[in-house]
Amino acid sequence: KDYTIKENYIPEIEGMPSLFIGNKSAQTLEITLEDKISGVEVVLSYSVFDDYDVILRNTRIHNISDSTIEIDSAYSANLDIAKGNYDLIYFSGGWGREREFCRSEIQQGAKIDISNARGGSGHTLNPFIMVSEHNADEDKGNVYGFSLIYSGNHSSMIECDQYGNIRVQQGINPFMFKWTLEKGESFVTPQCVMCYSENGIGGLSRELNDVYRTNLCRSKWADKDRPILINNWEATYFDFDEDKLLSIAKRAKEAGVELFVLDDGWFGTRNDDFSGLGDWTVNYDKLPSGIDGLAKKINDIGLKFGLWFEPEMVNPDSDLYRAHPDWAISVPNRISSLSRNQLILDLSRDDVCDYIITAVSDVLKSANIEYVKWDMNRQLTTMGSCGLPADRQGELYHRYVLGVYKMQERLLQDFPELLLENCSGGGARFDAGMLYYSPQIWCSDDTDAVERLAIQEGTAMVYPVSTIGAHVSVCPNHTVGRITPFETRGNVALLGTFGYELDITKLSAEEKELVKKQTADYHKYNELIREGDYYRLASIAENGRYDSWMIVEKTKKKALVFYVQGMAAANGKSRFVKLKGLKAQSRYRIDGKEYSGSVLMQAGLKVAQEFGDFKSRIFLVEENVD
Ligand code: DGJ
Repeated sequence: KDYTIKENYIPEIEGMPSLFIGNKSAQTLEITLEDKISGVEVVLSYSVFDDYDVILRNTRIHNISDSTIEIDSAYSANLDIAKGNYDLIYFSGGWGREREFCRSEIQQGAKIDISNARGGSGHTLNPFIMVSEHNADEDKGNVYGFSLIYSGNHSSMIECDQYGNIRVQQGINPFMFKWTLEKGESFVTPQCVMCYSENGIGGLSRELNDVYRTNLCRSKWADKDRPILINNWEATYFDFDEDKLLSIAKRAKEAGVELFVLDDGWFGTRNDDFSGLGDWTVNYDKLPSGIDGLAKKINDIGLKFGLWFEPEMVNPDSDLYRAHPDWAISVPNRISSLSRNQLILDLSRDDVCDYIITAVSDVLKSANIEYVKWDMNRQLTTMGSCGLPADRQGELYHRYVLGVYKMQERLLQDFPELLLENCSGGGARFDAGMLYYSPQIWCSDDTDAVERLAIQEGTAMVYPVSTIGAHVSVCPNHTVGRITPFETRGNVALLGTFGYELDITKLSAEEKELVKKQTADYHKYNELIREGDYYRLASIAENGRYDSWMIVEKTKKKALVFYVQGMAAANGKSRFVKLKGLKAQSRYRIDGKEYSGSVLMQAGLKVAQEFGDFKSRIFLVEENVD
């Protein structure tokens, strides 16, 4: 019907996260289509930035008829790619093994749906896919990426027709979705970020990492060193009292930690995971000075104080549920399935959202709380809302996500200095939608350094390293029982926001000294790690022997190379690890020796095998300007 081009403009999407223009220049093309017969108008929006190889897509559907219309499916983007040999890359997983890299050839006639219908973006399939030329690799070849800025049910459809042409569509999963539009109303879809690189998978990752770090993460913490935190979860689980927490905090302060985070178990009758969710009042039996008293004592030690919440959930054994059973998502006459002994609050209802966010805000106002970990520990099932009429139950999944966004928006408006970390049973909500609200997301409950290599590598394929929640924990590791060197646990956690998840009072004297070194290293290297370009050099998941990655400063004057060996082998050879992203003509110093950039990239850096499994090294690479 019509089109317009808007200069220096990208659309904001009401109630949902989206990229912002910041100090970049961008323009938007809006194409309006009209179907006179059904009375539907659709506005297709395409935005481009001068500085990035991305196209932002979303769709607005207007009911311009005189009657009600129902939307059964509303994807955000469609892209047709001319025929060729392509692979599909996607990120699968489960609890404790999020975002595993999967790659397979797209066969003629294939129709593949990379989707999730668990209510959140989920552990199992991330709302990010790539379509790459079959021969594209880490460094070369055409690669197309599709990332949905959304934290609910998602779908990425990939089809290959009889001629080999590829069609990709991405958006809200149509599963159990039905949205009613009254006359004059409109529905807007989430934003899809389509990205392209001719420099392989690595090129695409670096592009998206930059876009998201710079034009999605709004937090004022996004481009700052985050305080090094210690979280008491793996140290105590539910079994803590004030003395125990303060002794951890004191030791942590001595070792260079800056923020103490009190995790699950501080409220209601929450002494295990059977009760208490929803009752956001302190448990004075455990914490006689209350949250305000504890926060003050932690501040007096010289640490900031942070607190865990799971605002979206309720245990049937809670005062909140006893008072408002209708606030939980459920279907009349059907048994609601419990997961981790909890039910889901109905965030499609304004009264429920208002109550919960007020309860959380009251706690935050009562004490000096500078960090919040917002957790969410189950999938959405038995979907039914007392707040919606029978013919609008198909709106519940999406309205739930809008409720989450509304609550986080309000929290940040009321507490603009707050450092918010999202979390969901580990990394089930590592998605672009959440990054709009929180500059960091807990990446996985699996804190084993070796397992984390693949989890963090998959995560960094799309999301910036600066957003990856990564902590050092004890050995044997609580998830897999593996023993790894303390240094390696620190080196792996440096690829992220960095912190500790252990009882520091139980560490050996030698380990405590290592914590001091690691906290100092974090501050020494964080700016480079946070803002540099991330290159994957070798993946233990592929070669079975070693893992290596590097971060290169944008100026290419400085870089850090990380190397982790797998199982040690007798008479093991040294390895040459080919570096990337340096200036071929420049000379670089590493450990007092000088090399040309081209030697480091063509022949590689020699790394000797060390005695012991899972040993690791970090090499600082600095341009020699003498
Ligand atoms: C799941 C999170 O991923 C953990 O870090 C921890 O906060 C627990 N929930 C607490 O219940």
